[in-house]
Amino acid sequence: MDYYIVHGGKKLSGEVQISGSKNAALPLIAASLLISGEVILENVPDLMDIRTIKDLVESLGAMVEYDNKKKIMSIATPKITNIEAPYDLVKTMRASTYVMGPLLARVGEARVSMPGGCAIGQRPIDIHLSGFESLGAQMSLEHGVVHAQVQGKKLQGSTFRFRIVSVGATANVMMAAVLAKGTTRLENCAMEPEIVNLAGFLNAAGAKIQGAGTKDIVIEGVKQLHSLRYKVIPDRIETGTFLLAGAITRGKVLVNGCDPVTVDALLMELHRIGYHLDVKKNSIEVTPGKQLHGVDIKTKVFPGFPTDLQSPMMSLMCTLPGLSVMIEDIFENRYTHIGELLRMGADIIVENGVAIVRGGQQLTGAQIMMTDLRAGAALVLAALAADGESEIRRIYHTDRGYEELEAKLQALGGKVERRTGGKG
Ligand code: UD1
Repeated sequence: MDYYIVHGGKKLSGEVQISGSKNAALPLIAASLLISGEVILENVPDLMDIRTIKDLVESLGAMVEYDNKKKIMSIATPKITNIEAPYDLVKTMRASTYVMGPLLARVGEARVSMPGGCAIGQRPIDIHLSGFESLGAQMSLEHGVVHAQVQGKKLQGSTFRFRIVSVGATANVMMAAVLAKGTTRLENCAMEPEIVNLAGFLNAAGAKIQGAGTKDIVIEGVKQLHSLRYKVIPDRIETGTFLLAGAITRGKVLVNGCDPVTVDALLMELHRIGYHLDVKKNSIEVTPGKQLHGVDIKTKVFPGFPTDLQSPMMSLMCTLPGLSVMIEDIFENRYTHIGELLRMGADIIVENGVAIVRGGQQLTGAQIMMTDLRAGAALVLAALAADGESEIRRIYHTDRGYEELEAKLQALGGKVERRTGGKG
């Protein structure tokens, strides 16, 4: 298995180009199952998760071609040939559940293996399922597989309120409702940019969705969707990760090809800490100010501080003089990076879900291990700031979600090397 050797202590400097968003591309690829004609997606990042969902939609009847140089994916699904997302795929990637809404809408039936637990908590899909039920689907759980079926094959528009704000459930129920009979009103929706991108995609294919990006979304069902060409938005979490990589090494990094509006909460925190930010329409440059200090942050749904940047931000906190506080308010167990940061000399205690970081110590290189995608990014950042060499294992986590991570860091002067054939 591959691993990283990182030599820390070097200020990053230069420019980095942001890739298309993984979390925006995944639902667009799943939503393509709603369309019999050709869907052309631009700016699709070349990542493990993208290959997983490509395999999944192919197994359901889609014909997919992906040009990983041009980042263009074409998908055509004249017919759904299978309605089951198998356990092997769902367990490697929870976003596999995104095929459920499109399958229910198009053929009135779906079988999706329950995702089970994952490194950052239980992450159930009950809200997705209640949303489908409100549209007239009947659910049963058979041997770990959710079987959803619609009498008469056609979902019926309804009013549904999400129990808590969920990105996945908002996307899934929205995809289901576009072909339902009548009007669907969704309340307490996620307002994340990925939801806006998905609604834009569906509308460009002929759907009638209003209000995406606000709490309330109204969908007038249509008979069918048509071919289209559509562009995936830039990855806001990758944008944030590279800003934090510049920040943690006290370097000067220009992040290009991003959408600054989508990382506003991070920019506010970096500004409060004492960084200078030069924000243009599609780029952000970060440089350290004269005095940096700790900060208190709580993760929230968009437009709040994203849970996906909590762990990379905590790595930065370790290097800031004084106390910082982080509260993870979205996922119950998203602190698995802390044990590894402690091995690098960080001073962090967790009490009742609140992480208190006493910053300012010099982190030191160590043998460390990624536990999930964003925890992995946090460790790479910590290693870049640490004194000496770090060996980071289980980098298949960052391979799932960061395109050419080490090449991009190397271009900024980071000493990150991928080695093959380690102990895993
Ligand atoms: C998506 C993102 C993930 C990000 C998260 C929150 C993708 C592929 N993943 O995940 O990177 O961290 O949004 O911004 O886009 N919940 C339930 N029942 C449900 C669904 C969710 O209880 O049926 C809970 C979750 O356990 C969590 C909270 O709701 O505590 C928010 O989760 P959700 O927004 O659904 O996250 P995902 O869509 O899985």
